[in-house]
Amino acid sequence: MMEQMIKNVMVIGAGGLVGNELLAALQKENAFNLTVLTRQSSKSTFLPNIRVCTVDDDYPAHQLFEAFQDQDALVSAIPGRPYDIHLRMIDVAAKAGVKRFIPSEYGNNTCAVAAELVPLYAVKAKIMAHLRTKESAGLTWTAIHSGQFFDWGLESGWLNFDLAAKRTTIYDSGKKRWSTTNIGTVAAAVAKALLKPDETKNKPVFVSSFTVSQLQVLKELEKATGSKWEVKEMTSETALDKVRKMDNEDDPEGSKLRFLMLLYADGLDSCANFEEGGLSSNELLGLPEENLSGVIAQVVKQHAS
Ligand SMILES: NC(=O)c1ccc[n+]([C@@H]2O[C@H](COP(=O)([O-])OP(=O)(O)OC[C@H]3O[C@@H](n4cnc5c(N)ncnc54)[C@H](OP(=O)(O)O)[C@@H]3O)[C@@H](O)[C@H]2O)c1
Ligand SMILES: *[C@@H]1O[C@H](CO)[C@@H](O)[C@H](O)[C@H]1NC(C)=O
Ligand SMILES: *[C@@H]1O[C@H](CO)[C@@H](O)[C@H](O)[C@H]1NC(C)=O
Ligand SMILES: *[C@@H]1O[C@H](CO)[C@@H](O)[C@H](O)[C@H]1NC(C)=O
Repeated sequence: MMEQMIKNVMVIGAGGLVGNELLAALQKENAFNLTVLTRQSSKSTFLPNIRVCTVDDDYPAHQLFEAFQDQDALVSAIPGRPYDIHLRMIDVAAKAGVKRFIPSEYGNNTCAVAAELVPLYAVKAKIMAHLRTKESAGLTWTAIHSGQFFDWGLESGWLNFDLAAKRTTIYDSGKKRWSTTNIGTVAAAVAKALLKPDETKNKPVFVSSFTVSQLQVLKELEKATGSKWEVKEMTSETALDKVRKMDNEDDPEGSKLRFLMLLYADGLDSCANFEEGGLSSNELLGLPEENLSGVIAQVVKQHAS
């Protein structure tokens, strides 16, 4: 029986975009003994009641080994690259007797087409493959798949809706549906998964706040802003052509288009819709129902202020 056994939890990268939310969600449960692992040169700051453990910037194995002692679970929220740091953390976690590892996933689609189009997903898939090799050593894992972050994706322009200019480009029919999760819900999913260690053992766990289309989001944005948006149209073929012509696969614009085409391209079966296969674990984790109009109104309001 593993139930009830996850008490000591270490969050790695807790000062970042995802980490910050993770820490808050874990604290809210009032069920964990939390520690944060941060790098020597880090600028992250934490409230005084948070236990902080500092290691050198390159996360040396012997320091990780010491830090991971007595931890039941590690929650990683560091950037996907460099890749070898993730592998080292997994190796050391298994040696140190950690029970559960939550890798820095938070987004993966599960089809091969995702790894082909988005190099970061190929890296994440390799990290997952490595994690699976440690099951026999007693290290269990849970991978949280959330699709793209919804509220953050709107605010930051990542989803390609320009709130300031009230402008967007609709790709293909605009009707393809994709699952997407508010960042706070992603964090809540991690906390809830740790409270249900048996049900989430060695599993990808899919969660979403909404499954929507581009046109649905546009309609809600027009409602929330009280104005008609300027809409351009582009085929995914043109977008993918653009991507192929960029020599650097890490070009920021190309990189974003790759992610977006997984959601928006009609012809690409990229498993972005978690409702379709009945994949969602929202119910298992007891995540609250969320309201699309409400969230979009909130994002628009925050953006305006
Ligand atoms: N689905 C989506 O829409 C979406 C969006 C954004 C991110 N993500 C995913 O979420 C995960 C976390 O991303 P994030 O944006 O939250 O990360 P981030 O804010 O860039 O970094 C998180 C933390 O990682 C630590 N860190 C370790 N090595 C670092 C390095 N080389 N450069 C910078 N920071 C480093 C830092 O913590 P300390 O300073 O405390 O050491 C930093 O605060 C990634 O796997 C990413 O792919 C998904
Ligand atoms: C809480 O975690 C810290 C760091 O891992 C550990 O030293 C301490 O013993 C833990 N406290 C309890 C009550 O388990
Ligand atoms: C992440 O995506 C890749 C490529 O689509 C896939 O091979 C891998 O299994 C995914 N990871 C998980 C945990 O599902
Ligand atoms: C969703 O939010 C909108 C706007 O805040 C509100 O008018 C509506 O009643 C809410 N719907 C539900 C089902 O809660």
